[in-house]
Amino acid sequence: MPVHRLTPILLCLLPMLGILTPGSSHPQHSRCQLIQRTALCNNGKLSFVPAGLPDSLEELQLNYNHIQTLQNSSLLRYPALTTLSLACNSLEKLEPNTFQDSKLIESLNLANNNLHIGYQETSLALRTLPRLRALDLSENELTDEMAATLLQNLTSLEYLNLSGNFLMRLDEMSFRDLHQLKELDLQRNSMYEIDGAFDSNPKLQRLNLAFNSLLCLIDFHMAQLVVLNASHNYIEWFISRPDLNDTFQLETLDLSHNKLLFFPFLPNDNHLRNLYLSHNSIRFYEHLADNNTYPNLTTTVEFYNMKKYTGNVTAQLWDDSLHGDISSLEILDLRGNQVEYFPQGFIQKMPVLSRLQMCTNCLETLDLTSEQFPGSLYELDISNNRLNQIVADRGTLITLGNLTYLNLSLNALEELPLGFFSSLSSLRSADLSYNIIDICPAEEAETSTDTSSGCADWTNIVSLTQLYLKGCNLQRIPSSAFAGLSLTHLELSDNPGLIVDESIQSLSRTLQHLGLGNTHIQDFDFSHFQNLKYLNISQNSLAHLPPSLLKLELKVLDLRDNRLSTIPSGHANALAPKLHTVFLTGNPFNCCQTEWFRTFESTKTINIVGQSDIECEDLIQTTHRIEHSQSFLCLEMGGESVLWYILLFLPICLSFVGISVIVLLTFKPSIIQKSIKKKCLKPTSY
Ligand SMILES: *[C@@H]1O[C@H](CO)[C@@H](O)[C@H](O)[C@H]1NC(C)=O
Ligand SMILES: *[C@@H]1O[C@H](CO)[C@@H](O)[C@H](O)[C@H]1NC(C)=O
Ligand SMILES: *[C@@H]1O[C@H](CO)[C@@H](O)[C@H](O)[C@H]1NC(C)=O
Ligand SMILES: *[C@@H]1O[C@H](CO)[C@@H](O)[C@H](O)[C@H]1NC(C)=O
Ligand SMILES: *[C@@H]1O[C@H](CO)[C@@H](O)[C@H](O)[C@H]1NC(C)=O
Ligand SMILES: *[C@@H]1O[C@H](CO)[C@@H](O)[C@H](O)[C@H]1NC(C)=O
Ligand SMILES: *[C@@H]1O[C@H](CO)[C@@H](O)[C@H](O)[C@H]1NC(C)=O
Ligand SMILES: *[C@@H]1O[C@H](CO)[C@@H](O)[C@H](O)[C@H]1NC(C)=O
Ligand SMILES: *[C@@H]1O[C@H](CO)[C@@H](O)[C@H](O)[C@H]1NC(C)=O
Ligand SMILES: *[C@@H]1O[C@H](CO)[C@@H](O)[C@H](O)[C@H]1NC(C)=O
Repeated sequence: MPVHRLTPILLCLLPMLGILTPGSSHPQHSRCQLIQRTALCNNGKLSFVPAGLPDSLEELQLNYNHIQTLQNSSLLRYPALTTLSLACNSLEKLEPNTFQDSKLIESLNLANNNLHIGYQETSLALRTLPRLRALDLSENELTDEMAATLLQNLTSLEYLNLSGNFLMRLDEMSFRDLHQLKELDLQRNSMYEIDGAFDSNPKLQRLNLAFNSLLCLIDFHMAQLVVLNASHNYIEWFISRPDLNDTFQLETLDLSHNKLLFFPFLPNDNHLRNLYLSHNSIRFYEHLADNNTYPNLTTTVEFYNMKKYTGNVTAQLWDDSLHGDISSLEILDLRGNQVEYFPQGFIQKMPVLSRLQMCTNCLETLDLTSEQFPGSLYELDISNNRLNQIVADRGTLITLGNLTYLNLSLNALEELPLGFFSSLSSLRSADLSYNIIDICPAEEAETSTDTSSGCADWTNIVSLTQLYLKGCNLQRIPSSAFAGLSLTHLELSDNPGLIVDESIQSLSRTLQHLGLGNTHIQDFDFSHFQNLKYLNISQNSLAHLPPSLLKLELKVLDLRDNRLSTIPSGHANALAPKLHTVFLTGNPFNCCQTEWFRTFESTKTINIVGQSDIECEDLIQTTHRIEHSQSFLCLEMGGESVLWYILLFLPICLSFVGISVIVLLTFKPSIIQKSIKKKCLKPTSY
């Protein structure tokens, strides 16, 4: 069972910032800062509660100190305290009479301590606080019994944090006395069972069970709950108690990162607005509901409790019409599941749906007409599916007047309904990357009589500002393709051999982000793109930096994987002060012409991505890290003729060496003698 021990350590390593101002306003205790009736004594290496603070103190913060015990006398001086915070100390216990004179305390933060050691005494102390509303016991290594003991008789508690402890199993007794509880954080424990644990907490509205080991949530009947977070467990089933007629107050349900096989069986009457189901194995099974094909398929499941048997929960498995009330849903996040189709009428049941996130599923067709998507739809993400068809008539498209973000990337689309994009009047961002879709020449779009077309037409969509057409196998962009658009983002990367011609010049006033990576583009004139901030021209075999870049106010420039051997000093000096991020790896830079690198390196405002991976080649074509290139011997001569110079110099050097040797040999005796004299014939001291 995973035990989450890392967080407390991390939390306590975090230094507290800026609180250590010596007490100018209150000289009695130099480690506290006093602001009206609040004393901030965080991070002060204190072992005791400071004594010299005013007795009218209402809030005392002692986080990040070394206090081990709160003694019976520790708080006697501060009877007016309402808020006490002792997070990240090494607190082992609170003595039973700690709060004898501090009955006004409402909020107590004991997070990240060692209360597992003295939990029994501590529990006696907590019981004496009649007004306690908020209690943080997170990260204290508490087990089930310890927590139950600590929480006895805390009848006034409204907010409780037990995250990051060692809880495994909760039952009716765990929170029995917490009748006022509104919010409970149980994240990051190891719970596998929570049977009936919340039956005594009729006011509980927010419950966080994320990062535990729950296997299912069945018989869900907490009608008062507004937010339930059960993400990051091992949940296979979520089933609400079916015969309950109450209106559930649930607005947000997070079941992401679990093991759901079925869409959750939601309450029949609820206010659910946000449903997060990403990263499960959900699909729909309507096709199995047909009795003729699968006559003997079982239709119900039964659940048994690990300890005792509480009753059969049955769910009609294959009937997708029984999945409860989804009529208030605004956000439905189904990313990373296995949905192949939507059951009949499913989308229609969500008349106010605003965001539908279906990225990474198995949808093959999208029939906007028969599904009847609502006019409220704002974001539709069907990227990374298997779409090969989109069906929509013009009337349907016009009703999608709120659709702003559309992501169809990474599918197998080769055709689109005619006039698809021009009918979506609010469309701001469209991603069609990695499909095989061409751009229509102006004439063709209007004359075609088919209902769908292998090319997309963009002209005159005034709302559109972001268009992503990466990897669409585009060959030539018609010169009028972007006429009437005011794009700020245009991605054309990964279309090798793309011919851009004049087409994007019409966007020169508006374009801020231009992706031309891996297009094999060569001499492009960027000088008119005065608003361009981001430019990607990686993977284009460029041997020189296009000089037209220098006049732009670029912030991000991707030059990776080209054939640049150097960047002229003038260019580097012009770019360096403007750029925030530059990508340069994968170029065959010349180790002897790295002035530009020093310029970039010494400009503190630039982030050179992968700086230590930028390489250069020296005279004999071996590669080095450019960071270390100062240590190479470089003959400062232009380029390729270096080898000739070496050949020329070689004989001269050789003859020089030869002459030297001869001279040396000639005078050898005397030199040797001298050196012997110097070394050995020193006068000795005796
Ligand atoms: C806790 O509450 C129970 C029932 O209300 C009461 O009998 C018991 O005395 C209380 N214990 C303490 C220590 O206050
Ligand atoms: C509970 O405590 C944990 C760790 O101390 C913290 O991350 C979390 O935000 C707290 N929960 C609430 C609801 O404040
Ligand atoms: C649920 O909890 C996880 C972990 O704390 C968090 O990342 C996620 O945002 C929460 N979900 C919602 C809807 O707040
Ligand atoms: C719920 O309502 C149905 C019909 O309206 C009724 O038969 C059933 O007994 C009710 N259930 C409960 C638990 O009240
Ligand atoms: C399938 O069979 C069940 C009973 O076995 C019946 O109640 C149900 O109506 C049948 N469904 C269809 C679609 O025939
Ligand atoms: C269904 O069950 C009946 C009786 O148990 C059996 O005779 C029949 O062969 C089964 N049909 C299939 C398709 O398994
Ligand atoms: C639960 O289901 C089992 C198996 O079908 C059955 O034997 C038992 O009587 C059922 N119990 C209840 C309370 O419905
Ligand atoms: C369009 O979507 C936005 C964002 O979700 C929402 O605020 C607005 O109410 C929607 N408009 C309509 C007409 O549904
Ligand atoms: C579209 O979806 C893909 C894959 O999920 C993602 O990588 C891409 O960033 C999305 N496009 C936009 C514009 O958000
Ligand atoms: C630039 O485009 C290339 C080719 O598509 C891509 O691999 C690279 O990640 C892009 N650069 C940035 C910074 O996104």
